[in-house]
Amino acid sequence: MRRTVLISKHIYQEAVDQLIARADVDYNNSDESLPAEELRRRVAGKHGLVCQLTDRIGPSLLDSAEGLRVVSNVAVGFDNIDVAAATERGIIVTNTPGVLTDTTADLAFALILGAGRRLGEAERYLRAGRFKQWRINLLTGWDIWGATLGIFGLGRIGQAVARRGRGFNMRLLYYDPYRQSEEVEQALGVQYASKEEVLRQADFITLHCALTPETHHLIGREELGLMKPTAVLVNTSRGPVVDEAALADALQSGRIAAAGLDVFEHEPAVHPKLLTLENALIVPHIASASVATRTRMCCMAAENMIAVLDGERPPNIVNPEVLD
Ligand code: GLV
Repeated sequence: MRRTVLISKHIYQEAVDQLIARADVDYNNSDESLPAEELRRRVAGKHGLVCQLTDRIGPSLLDSAEGLRVVSNVAVGFDNIDVAAATERGIIVTNTPGVLTDTTADLAFALILGAGRRLGEAERYLRAGRFKQWRINLLTGWDIWGATLGIFGLGRIGQAVARRGRGFNMRLLYYDPYRQSEEVEQALGVQYASKEEVLRQADFITLHCALTPETHHLIGREELGLMKPTAVLVNTSRGPVVDEAALADALQSGRIAAAGLDVFEHEPAVHPKLLTLENALIVPHIASASVATRTRMCCMAAENMIAVLDGERPPNIVNPEVLD
């Protein structure tokens, strides 16, 4: 029997071709997400769904998709999918880890450099015709070379950022509820510390944890209160890991120096105060956005999908218990 797949939104063509070779594909070849009702209607009767982090996949959608065997997310994060609900219904969920590690770490480091050296603000200053004369304290920022970098979450991406930090002669501290082995710590040159110590000691803090109930508002008013007034916070994980209103207040009052943000609590909305603050360097969720990486992510999502349709174990399964 020919398998049927819904692709919820535009993806790179190589991945579409891979899927078309193996299944009957209903493709929403658009940069706009399908409205919830249309997604529900079009997923009905399909064996597979290729979706993106802008698609909310919850119990009611899964209930309207009888026969659905796999949800293949084109992202490493999968907080847009109710995995427990999928597991209960015997539906496999897959993601795209690994291929985006270095591209994401590059952007995190770009935000460390950009927020620390006030690049967004400097460019706006210049474009506004305000650069009349060099002066000694013009747009002075905070050194990255030799500073202390605090990493929350030392998984694949956190480790890749640590390697970049080493290249900048940084002292590397990390906090993760799952401590890495001594070998990994030594190889990376990182030192384990409590959440509070990382907050107190770091000049730059970068977040690399998945969004879970435990990490929701991991950085809130209290945590911001422990940071140095010269500290810079960078978030390329998920918006709700940071209490955005508290962060906006901390940036406005000078409680911390600056922030570099790729993700937002209520994406695509950004807290209105952040939009007005010169010390917030903000970009629209582009951490994995290189052509090569986004192409690989799409192909990986197609490969995960095809494996399940062929009755095989997909390379990147989020809920293996469905198969056990
Ligand atoms: C992007 O945010 C991803 O999770 O891949």
